[in-house]
Amino acid sequence: MVKLSEVNSKLLKAHYAVRGKIVIRAQELEEQGKKIIYCNIGNPQALKQKPITFIRQVLSLLEYPALMDKPGAEKLFPADVIRRARMILEKNPSGTGAYTQSAGIPFIRKAIAEFIEKRDGIPADPNRIMLTEGASKGVHTVFTLLTNKENDGYLIPIPQYPLYSAAIELYGARQVNYFLDEKNRWSLDEAELERSIEGAKKSGINPVAITVINPGNPTGAVLSRKNIGMVIRFAKKHGLAIIADEVYQDNVYGEGLEFVSFAKVMHDLGEKDVTLFSLHSVSKGFLGECGHRGGYLEIRNMPDDVYAEVIKLLSIGLCANVDGQLVTYLMTAPPRPGEESYELYAAEKAAILGDLKEKAGILGKGLNEIEGMQVDVPEGAMYAFVKFDLPHPKGINPEAMTAEERHKYEAARDAKYCLRLLEGTGICVVPGSGFGQHPGTLHFRTTFLPPKEDILALVEKMKKFHASYVAKLQEA
Ligand SMILES: Cc1ncc(COP(=O)(O)O)c(C=O)c1O
Repeated sequence: MVKLSEVNSKLLKAHYAVRGKIVIRAQELEEQGKKIIYCNIGNPQALKQKPITFIRQVLSLLEYPALMDKPGAEKLFPADVIRRARMILEKNPSGTGAYTQSAGIPFIRKAIAEFIEKRDGIPADPNRIMLTEGASKGVHTVFTLLTNKENDGYLIPIPQYPLYSAAIELYGARQVNYFLDEKNRWSLDEAELERSIEGAKKSGINPVAITVINPGNPTGAVLSRKNIGMVIRFAKKHGLAIIADEVYQDNVYGEGLEFVSFAKVMHDLGEKDVTLFSLHSVSKGFLGECGHRGGYLEIRNMPDDVYAEVIKLLSIGLCANVDGQLVTYLMTAPPRPGEESYELYAAEKAAILGDLKEKAGILGKGLNEIEGMQVDVPEGAMYAFVKFDLPHPKGINPEAMTAEERHKYEAARDAKYCLRLLEGTGICVVPGSGFGQHPGTLHFRTTFLPPKEDILALVEKMKKFHASYVAKLQEA
């Protein structure tokens, strides 16, 4: 039998907080009959979000094409759904049960290029676009491609989505933190990037890429065009590739804010030297099709011989699952105005995004009013990263601790807080230490995906819990 001591030590070192110990405890409590409000993960359909009808209708015909020829099919499915399914079958006659080209079905890559051209008003090359099983697989592709030596480093935001820190451990690379500015809505500051990279270089790290998550997870912040331009210039100056995680591009709620892609700014700047990896996914936005594992990776500024290695890498995994590819296609080529499905599609989209915006406001405002908690109303994505204060137990002085001792002490404090919160109220959130946070601060990340009544209940429960937890610490 394989022993733990024989397991890949890089895997043993990797952590992925959003599915960690707290979630396991939540599942145990649920089995014992406790109602749990799952706010730990951005998994919309697990939290009662309905799938978009058009996507599921087309998909069902593609999974069982004989349905289209059954009597009454035209009553069950809108005419454009049937037309679309027939068109897809014509372009991909082998259907959903056959392997596809390694980079994905060609007409889908072309449709994605057109989607980017329309979104950004810039050219896009279908031969630099590949279908992936969610953005996660795209990230693994980039890390396999770029991690070459043990001292290769990746700049990642703090706080970050733990896929990045886990990938760094798995691929044996080095993590280089840059801190987002919580006081300025988690914006990105050039001086901080310079501090971070200079520190890394001094300690012998060879930085190869910078990851930017926009809109941000866990911060819910949306980057400005100016900020993105600054990152591109910074990457150029230091010879870094850019990994632009743009899976929340449809989740922008802040007044007057818009999603701007790295590809667009890079094109507008005329930048031809910096390699850009842009990621998108069917899991987020208003689709929430996490289980279908679809997404794409677009690469800019990469020579043909390097791209050939990417294709070789993809071919080792054969191809992304076909349903995920099809959902990605339907995300980028939705029904057009005038088509039979358009109105329902537009109404479902508006309802989901409107609901998310409302819940972001309820959660952000409600939690910010709790004494000892601070958070801005999230401007994007599906999360709030909430700062909270706790008194230190008597006799404990964190200032007197080494950096390592303090890190451990703080990680234990936010983990304990989240565990007690779960056990006391059924609310399942993730400790801030799982995403990274400034030393001396405590946070938790919560989604605003549960139904509105659960979000309202969450704010009330949180208020009572926090006051009693602080009181107990003060008495201790
Ligand atoms: C910032 C970010 N990137 C990537 C992913 C991975 O998503 P998927 O692999 O489902 O596309 C997530 C999931 O929560 C995320 O929050």
